[in-house]
Amino acid sequence: MASQLTTAPAPTPTEWRAAMGYFPTGVTVVTTWRRGAPLGSTVSAFCSVSLEPPLLLICLDRSNPCCSPVAECGVFGVNILADDSGDLARRFAVAPELERFEGQPFGSLEGGAPQLHAAPIFIDCVVETTSLAGDHFIVVGRGVRIERTSAAQPLLYHAGRFLRFDSCG
Ligand SMILES: Cc1cc2nc3c(=O)[nH]c(=O)nc-3n(C[C@H](O)[C@H](O)[C@H](O)COP(=O)(O)O)c2cc1C
Repeated sequence: MASQLTTAPAPTPTEWRAAMGYFPTGVTVVTTWRRGAPLGSTVSAFCSVSLEPPLLLICLDRSNPCCSPVAECGVFGVNILADDSGDLARRFAVAPELERFEGQPFGSLEGGAPQLHAAPIFIDCVVETTSLAGDHFIVVGRGVRIERTSAAQPLLYHAGRFLRFDSCG
């Protein structure tokens, strides 16, 4: 007899997005290089994977312009955004790729990824593995350098809105 689970209708993309969007996240800009030019994309699908060694993962939509460059150059950066960076998050999600870094101070170490000066925390990563899961790539990176440049509060994202962190404690 088929279980109730297998006969139940699968969640629709709309239902899935609503359920996943209920889970609050921080917001990052993932950066890398394409033919020597900086490239970046707003990414909330980010989490720690392992402490020793220090591994993290990001999920990139197969159509995300960072997918091939990350795989090709083998490095990427995770810029964790501050609570005053909602505009920056929007810019790295919707502005034309070539305009995203315009007027935006950034730097990099030799062999490292672009570091946005506006981000309080930056993690330089080397690609460990990439795997396709549905319509996204899961990219596992090894953190090789962390830079903390300010104690600003993180930007939050919930139900399609950017929110400011307000400690309950
Ligand atoms: C808050 C927020 C979170 C996002 N998270 C992700 C993500 O985790 N993975 C991803 O591939 N795209 C994510 N996106 C969408 C990408 O930023 C966007 O599709 C991409 O930068 C568009 O580039 P294109 O217009 O050049 O295709 C997110 C967008 C926003 C606004």
